[in-house]
Amino acid sequence: MAFESKIKTIEWVDTYSRMVDQTVIPYEYKFVNITDGQEMFDAIRNMIVRGAPAIGIAGAHGVVLFAQALAKESLSRDEFVSKLIEKAEYMKTSRPTAVNLMWACQKQIDVIKASKSDINGIVEELKQNAIKLENEDIEINKKIGDYGAEVVPKGATILTHCNAGALATVGYGTALGVVRSAFAKDNTVQVFADETRPRQQGARITTFELAMDGIPVTLITDGMCSYFMSKGMIDMVVVGADRIAANGDTANKIGTYTVAIAAKYHNVPFYIAAPLSTIDTSIATGAEIPIEERSHEEVTHINGDWICSDKVKVINPGFDVTPHELIAGIITEKGILRPDYNKSIAEAFQK
Ligand code: MRU
Repeated sequence: MAFESKIKTIEWVDTYSRMVDQTVIPYEYKFVNITDGQEMFDAIRNMIVRGAPAIGIAGAHGVVLFAQALAKESLSRDEFVSKLIEKAEYMKTSRPTAVNLMWACQKQIDVIKASKSDINGIVEELKQNAIKLENEDIEINKKIGDYGAEVVPKGATILTHCNAGALATVGYGTALGVVRSAFAKDNTVQVFADETRPRQQGARITTFELAMDGIPVTLITDGMCSYFMSKGMIDMVVVGADRIAANGDTANKIGTYTVAIAAKYHNVPFYIAAPLSTIDTSIATGAEIPIEERSHEEVTHINGDWICSDKVKVINPGFDVTPHELIAGIITEKGILRPDYNKSIAEAFQK
């Protein structure tokens, strides 16, 4: 059963992309308009928009913005096509780990290559394709939510890490889509949200969007999950994903792997919720997933203030990889995939 969420994170409007600025949540809930391709590249890199499915759509919008600008340059059709494909390839590099970004930009490249239209026609086709991907994202998340809700026990407390909610997608969410669908059936379900250092997507964004939708949420710090699991206070874990390898190994926000190990030890089922567009069947295992190294300031500072010695060394990988053997199931729009993941993932792509 679908729950009605009020949040629409990113949307194509006429000639520009409109998105929620995620850097200012929870202090402000405001929208920004992105009007050119380079601005979109920077918005993705600087995490004004974030979360794998949302940055995929942002990438698709970015290609339309580049197309609109190139259409004004009096280029031949061939020059336009080759410059635009270069820009779309560039857009793919705005962040390295979430494969939805490469997937969505590639969908736009496929449109460009298949088009028989003139320059203005290509721009229009790209715009229509971006809107289609946007609408499909919400439908896919609702399916993920409904499949996931089937494995949520009555009155469950669900632990999540980072933000895999409406604000990480166009709307509804993947992991939080499961929460929304479960809550629609049983309003005694509740969430424990890890704060998710260093960018605090759990504290800032997950608590904000669940509170906005009236879903009970308790904030905990990242080190607390095993304590609450040992007390029998967590019934299941559901997190999102940035890239899933063909064998089910899953990259998600740094700290996810720790939660998965704690869940295994305490016999708490650990689920991934993600669309098929997050699965990268071109890579065999998680060892091949590129892990983004982010600014050291994210670790040394909180809200602009130093929190440690300025002599300290820092390392700041944005993601880790949870090995497939720790994952009870991958909840997708085609149903819940179970081990052996090589087999179940391959079958999901055939359906
Ligand atoms: O660095 P972020 O905030 O983009 O990382 C986001 C996550 O790791 C999410 O959990 C993941 O993208 C899934 S979003 C549905």
